[in-house]
Amino acid sequence: MQTTKGTADLDQAGKTDHRSQLHTALAEVDALMSKEVYDALFDTAAALGPRHVLEIGTAHGAGTIALALGAISGGHDTRITTVDTLQALPDIPSSRARFGGPVENEAIVRENFRRAGIADRVTLHVGRSDSLATVAPEEFAVDMLVLDADGRIDRDLALFGPRLAAEAMVIVDDIDGKVAAAMHGGQLSIDLKHVICAKLTGRLVEEGYLRFERRVVDTSFFRAQDPTGWDYDRLQEIALECYRELVFLEAPASSVMTSSLASLFQSTALLRPFYGSARAVYRRMSGRRSG
Ligand SMILES: C[S@@+](CC[C@H](N)C(=O)[O-])C[C@H]1O[C@@H](n2cnc3c(N)ncnc32)[C@H](O)[C@@H]1O
Repeated sequence: MQTTKGTADLDQAGKTDHRSQLHTALAEVDALMSKEVYDALFDTAAALGPRHVLEIGTAHGAGTIALALGAISGGHDTRITTVDTLQALPDIPSSRARFGGPVENEAIVRENFRRAGIADRVTLHVGRSDSLATVAPEEFAVDMLVLDADGRIDRDLALFGPRLAAEAMVIVDDIDGKVAAAMHGGQLSIDLKHVICAKLTGRLVEEGYLRFERRVVDTSFFRAQDPTGWDYDRLQEIALECYRELVFLEAPASSVMTSSLASLFQSTALLRPFYGSARAVYRRMSGRRSG
């Protein structure tokens, strides 16, 4: 009895230590989500003890650290593969560009993993998620998938759906549907990533690919329903329909915001780059060369 109680106390103390280790790490690394979300990642990894987590979108490793410390606190032998371009590419924006190139960013990420004591559990792949899919070994089975990259949930589910275990946990960030607008060097930049994430996850739940479990701030937790039976042609059609809806987007906005946006939208010169990249994604996905 005495021994059992002592072990339980030790486990409890261990959990507390790992959580405070996470909170210390969050204060030191460039963490892009809220503390509640990192706590939820920690709790989920601690409770489920996944054998292999795949995270798309490492940034500086805050989410990876939360997942790894959570798994350690639960006594699980969890491996994490995490992938990030660690640089902006013509079709992929990345906030990592602020910290230098991929070499500088990789050094920061590896140092963050080392300081958090999780480096031996994590495989970092520097590159696009599709390049990881081409080099991943046969036995690359995933029972927790975290999608926090550029909003192309459809692409990442098509790449890694065949590797998902039945009822795998699928965690998707940026599902609040908000439109972000900002001025950068005299250019208006409109970010519809949260809109497409909300549309895609909503449709994937409706069509039975994902089952919603819970939401924490802007991050939702789903289960992959019967991934071995997924119809990938249908997945692509759903994605095209969602991207098509961006063309006639309706989003909540105040009247002041609406009238300022309306006057900006008169300026095609200002918005040409935005239309251009939206058209490029649509063409690539629909296989059209022109139109
Ligand atoms: C929002 S951040 C990830 C935040 C991170 N999960 C955290 O907890 O701090 C998104 C990251 O995804 C990366 N990214 C975007 N598209 C990608 C792609 N197709 N393949 C790999 N990484 C990508 C970007 O470079 C960026 O660092």
